[in-house]
This record gives sequence, structure tokens and C-alpha cells, in this order.
Amino acid sequence: MSKEKLIIAIDGPAGSGKTTIAKKVAKALGYLHIDSGSMYRALTRKVIKEKIDLDNKAELLKVVKATRIDLKQVDGKFIVLLDGENVSDKLRTPEINKNINTIAAVPEIRRYLLEIQRKLGKDGGIVMEGRDIGTAIFPHADSKFYIDASIEERTRRRFKELSDSGKKVDLSKLEKSIRIRDEKDKTRDTNPLRIAEDAIVIDTTGLSINEVTQKILKEIEK
Ligand code: CDP
Repeated sequence: MSKEKLIIAIDGPAGSGKTTIAKKVAKALGYLHIDSGSMYRALTRKVIKEKIDLDNKAELLKVVKATRIDLKQVDGKFIVLLDGENVSDKLRTPEINKNINTIAAVPEIRRYLLEIQRKLGKDGGIVMEGRDIGTAIFPHADSKFYIDASIEERTRRRFKELSDSGKKVDLSKLEKSIRIRDEKDKTRDTNPLRIAEDAIVIDTTGLSINEVTQKILKEIEK
């Protein structure tokens, strides 16, 4: 793989700033940015909409396999198409947050998305973010980062993001839901959230978006 076609993996818990940072890093490098969480979110949206019983695994898999998820960059903006519909602004709902761990814990669903994600990165030139990118999707990624921040800071960031987009949120409920999601992401059997052995860990508490982006870009250049 040529030097300018690297695979960069960024993992970390909810609200650690992965999406914002990954976007900036990708832009600086002229790479494609893939938010793998948006794929789990899109699938969860579909399953909720179709009123599928989450315990009915056969039904769940049938729906998932019949679902088309496309990620596109349009005018520099990243959009998610669920069966052709642009759902980018409909993926961060409390209902999706509540059900997503169940979907993300199903090994066959993870396997299904793993294949799509690996295909997207096969030629390199990609910054992919999520929970298992450095550990499972691209164990041989050229650079791996695990970004984290205190629970208080992560809750504050998510609170601001939601408030800025006009959504009403209760801070303590939000913190609780982030804690629950983190716990479930870290304890599931298949590809849980963990720090890859060769990942560079960045605690972003108190750091600005630009500071984190610069740190990452410097590491990649090394
Ligand atoms: O933005 P935030 O960190 O809150 O979440 P996200 O990256 O959109 O991911 C939402 C959920 O999808 C996570 O809590 C995981 O349960 C799941 N996910 C996963 O299991 N594996 C990934 N590679 C990405 C997301």
C-alpha cells in the first residue's frame, strides 16, 4: 500500500468526540471518513420501524440482510442512505440509543457489517471510527487511536450537541444512558469496546478538537 493510502482506526466510548475528530483528520489527509456507528444506527432504525421483535433472531437477520446501507459524501457532507432514503439526521434519537446495544451484540449482524466495512477500506485512504475498528475490522491498520474523556466531559459534549440541535435533554438522564451504553459496549461477547494493544490512547478531557486533531495528525506523520 502506498504511503498516502493509509488505514486509520479511531475507537472510543460514546461522546469521546470520535466523529468530529475523525471527520477533521480525514479532511486534513484527503481521506474518506466512515462513521461505523451510523451503520448500526441505521439498522436499528429499520428494525424499530419494522417493529421486529429483538428476541426473534431469525427475523432480525432476515431484515438486516434485506437492508441496504450506503454511506456517501455529498458536497463534503457525509450522508447515510437507508434503503435509498437519507436518514442522516434521524439516527441520534433516544429510541435508537436505547435499542442499539441489542442490535450491536448480535454476532451475525457484526459479521455482516464487518464485511461491508472491510470492503470500504480495502484500498486504504480511510479514517474509520467506531468501537472495534482497531481490534476487529482493521487489526492491521496503519495507525490506531483510542480516544476517551471523563464521563462528565463526555456527557457535557453530548448535552451541548443535542441542545444546539434544538433537542431538550435532561443532563442526569443523559449521563445514565451514556454509562449504560458504554458498559454494554465493553461487556458484549463479540468484539467489545477495548483498547487495541498497539493503539495510541488520547485522553481528550480538557483538550480542544483542534488539539486532538493535531496530536493524531502528528502521530500519523511519524
Ligand atoms: O457517537 P456515539 O459514540 O454516541 O455512538 P456511535 O459511534 O454512533 O455508536 C452507536 C452504538 O453503535 C455504540 O454504542 C455501539 O453499541 C454500536 N457500535 C458498535 O458496536 N461498533 C462500532 N464499530 C460502532 C458502533
